[in-house]
Amino acid sequence: MITTPDGAIDVQGRSRPLGGPADQARLLHLRASASVVLVGAGTARLENYGPPSAPGLRIGVVTASCALNFESPLFASGAGFVVTTTDAPQVPVDSIRAGVGTVDFASVIQQLPAGIVHVEGGPQLNAALLDADLVDALNITLSPKLVGARGPSLSLAPHALRRFALSSIEQRDNFAFVRYVRSTTASATQVRD
Ligand SMILES: NC(=O)c1ccc[n+]([C@@H]2O[C@H](COP(=O)([O-])OP(=O)(O)OC[C@H]3O[C@@H](n4cnc5c(N)ncnc54)[C@H](OP(=O)(O)O)[C@@H]3O)[C@@H](O)[C@H]2O)c1
Repeated sequence: MITTPDGAIDVQGRSRPLGGPADQARLLHLRASASVVLVGAGTARLENYGPPSAPGLRIGVVTASCALNFESPLFASGAGFVVTTTDAPQVPVDSIRAGVGTVDFASVIQQLPAGIVHVEGGPQLNAALLDADLVDALNITLSPKLVGARGPSLSLAPHALRRFALSSIEQRDNFAFVRYVRSTTASATQVRD
């Protein structure tokens, strides 16, 4: 996720105004090591999620309602699939279902391709994963902009205090790319230009 020093994650519902080419390059770099991407339905809808440029990479859209545009390029391309509960409405695309009423993310992860599950927000999905204690690392881009408006932050729900350790900081074009890992697995901190 990208955030500003004053805690904003969007400008009028879109995160793109906070970013730039260096931030986009960082996203592609992170996706390159991912076996799969997860994104909340709110973000997929508001940010008009499309298919990833990396061949074979798939994006799971987490939803309870299954109220998604299945004719959008993300789903029409075959790259998109749905992550939802067992009692959610049927969908015309691939789906992974776990949990009744609420998504059982531990079970979902068991059903995903092995490797890194790269989560791209938004705040409701982040909160659910933090509450389930399933977050191993945070990749946060600090934007060199201030927004000043009060809105959602990186994670919405009240969850238990989670401790992370600084793993690396990189900077490019006035953006800072910060990586935190679970404190129990923290390695030496690297600071690079
Ligand atoms: N700065 C950044 O890097 C960044 C990144 C991502 C998003 N954002 C911003 O975040 C905003 C969107 O946030 P949002 O509040 O809509 O959060 P979100 O987590 O993207 O989406 C919320 C929706 O996703 C589904 N969902 C999330 N968690 C779920 C769970 N545990 N179980 C079942 N369904 C779940 C639900 O979809 P249904 O309603 O379909 O049931 C829910 O309404 C946008 O303004 C976007 O720009 C910013």
